[in-house]
Amino acid sequence: MATTKNTLQLKTPTQLLKEDHDEVQGKLSRLEDIFGHLDRQAEVAAELKELAAFFETDFWVHFTKEEDALFPELEKYLPKDQGPIGVMLEEHVELRETNRQLQKAISAYFALGNNPERKELIRKYGNRFIYALRDHIDKENSVLFELTEANLTKKQVETVSKGFEKIAAEHQARKASPGGCCCSSS
Ligand SMILES: [Fe+2]
Ligand SMILES: [Fe+2]
Repeated sequence: MATTKNTLQLKTPTQLLKEDHDEVQGKLSRLEDIFGHLDRQAEVAAELKELAAFFETDFWVHFTKEEDALFPELEKYLPKDQGPIGVMLEEHVELRETNRQLQKAISAYFALGNNPERKELIRKYGNRFIYALRDHIDKENSVLFELTEANLTKKQVETVSKGFEKIAAEHQARKASPGGCCCSSS
C-alpha cells in the first residue's frame, strides 16, 4: 500500500487512505472475477492465493491506521460509539469475521479439492466480503473523510500522518522478523 515516507510527507492521511481504497477496489474486482472460474482450480490458483494472502495480512494495516491513528483524532469531534465512527468500527468487526470465513473456505478448496460445496462457500463468504467492503469504502470516502478534512487541524493531520508511518514501519518489521508476518486481522 502507499506508505513510503516521502509519500506521507506530501499527501494527507485521507488522500493516502483513498489510494489504499482504490488499490483494494481493484483487488476486489479481480477476486469477484475469479469466483466465476472456480471450476478451473489450476488456472486460478496462483491469483487466488495471492489475493487471499493480501486479504489475510497486508490489507489489515489499513484498518489499523484508521482505528489507531485517524479515529482517535476524529473522536475529538465525533462520538466514538455512535454516528459514523461507531458504524465504521462495527463494520470493521463484521469484515474481519467474514474474511475469517472466506479464508477458511479458500484453504479448504486448496487442501481438499473443488467440490460444489467448497466452491459455494467461497462464493457465499467472498461475495459478502466484497459487497460489504465496497459499501464500507464508499461510506468512508463520502462521509468519514469529508468530516476528517472539515474538522482536523494541521497539527492533528501531522499526528495522524506520523501514526500511519509508525504503523507501516511496525508492519514491515513484523514481516521481516524470523516468524514472518502477521498483522492484526483479529
Ligand atoms: Fe474502514
Ligand atoms: Fe478505509
